[in-house]
Amino acid sequence: MQLKGKRVLITGGTRGIGKCMVKELINEGVTHLAIIARDKKSLKELSESYPEVKFLRISGDVGNIDVLREAAARIEDKWGYLDVLINNAGIVSAGPMEELPDEEIYDQVAVNYTAILLLTKYCIPLLKSSEEGSILNISSGLGLIGMPFYAVYGSTKAAIRQFSDSMRRELAPFNVSVTCSYPTATDTDMMQKFEGMEMDSPELVAKRSLEGLMNKELHVVFGGEEREKDSKLNFMEPSKYDNKVTQIYEQFKESSAGHKAM
Ligand SMILES: NC(=O)c1ccc[n+]([C@@H]2O[C@H](COP(=O)([O-])OP(=O)(O)OC[C@H]3O[C@@H](n4cnc5c(N)ncnc54)[C@H](OP(=O)(O)O)[C@@H]3O)[C@@H](O)[C@H]2O)c1
Repeated sequence: MQLKGKRVLITGGTRGIGKCMVKELINEGVTHLAIIARDKKSLKELSESYPEVKFLRISGDVGNIDVLREAAARIEDKWGYLDVLINNAGIVSAGPMEELPDEEIYDQVAVNYTAILLLTKYCIPLLKSSEEGSILNISSGLGLIGMPFYAVYGSTKAAIRQFSDSMRRELAPFNVSVTCSYPTATDTDMMQKFEGMEMDSPELVAKRSLEGLMNKELHVVFGGEEREKDSKLNFMEPSKYDNKVTQIYEQFKESSAGHKAM
């Protein structure tokens, strides 16, 4: 699948992985881009840095159902269809489960998961109107392997994987493909408060995720062979993976303490 001339909606396209995807999309020839993010100023600045591209700037919180409805309505009104939906916006708040504030549990589910369900729902008729529709969902390595202190974040990301599999099978007769990407630690604002870990660059994660979309790959998993081995072990023999986690428990607790980007 080529991206040239495609009409694309991306959530969280103003910073981090999303911003790098915007750059890549434009390099690949996308000329019509709808972006949802909360901060109006960064939306404006981003659109001004690509004067050749026609932007639909939708400022608002994806946790707000009206923002999602408005996005789909504006796309229907302006373009009449949508080729690519990229569900990228996400937030994190780590910590021992019993200490996480209730609001941060609700917000992580609303932004990381419910928003994806609803935005996808609203965009399906638009994607069906495309000659070749596609969806890219950004999950996380923590959606493949459940880690302590990320029970909420990780379970929203695991839900995205399941949703992606269901949607791929449901939309196959309509020529709409679904790709799900699982970055590991990536050097963005989201990771500023996470201590001590080698990270991928957001450029690499953006490029590889979009390659996956273009090649209609089902899953794009980051972290190399080691991660693949860990995922298999976690699935086939979870108690063996429990032992691995026991060995790094204190270190991981320390690294994740205060890890919050909301
Ligand atoms: N960085 C990592 O290590 C990593 C690893 C695995 C998976 N991921 C996933 O990759 C995706 C992108 O992460 P990132 O690291 O690039 O994050 P980031 O640097 O924090 O950027 C987040 C983007 O999403 C937007 N956003 C956040 N909350 C929003 C909300 N409620 N409504 C609308 N827009 C919102 C932000 O803009 P505004 O603040 O203006 O709204 C920003 O454009 C997320 O789904 C994340 O979970 C990241």
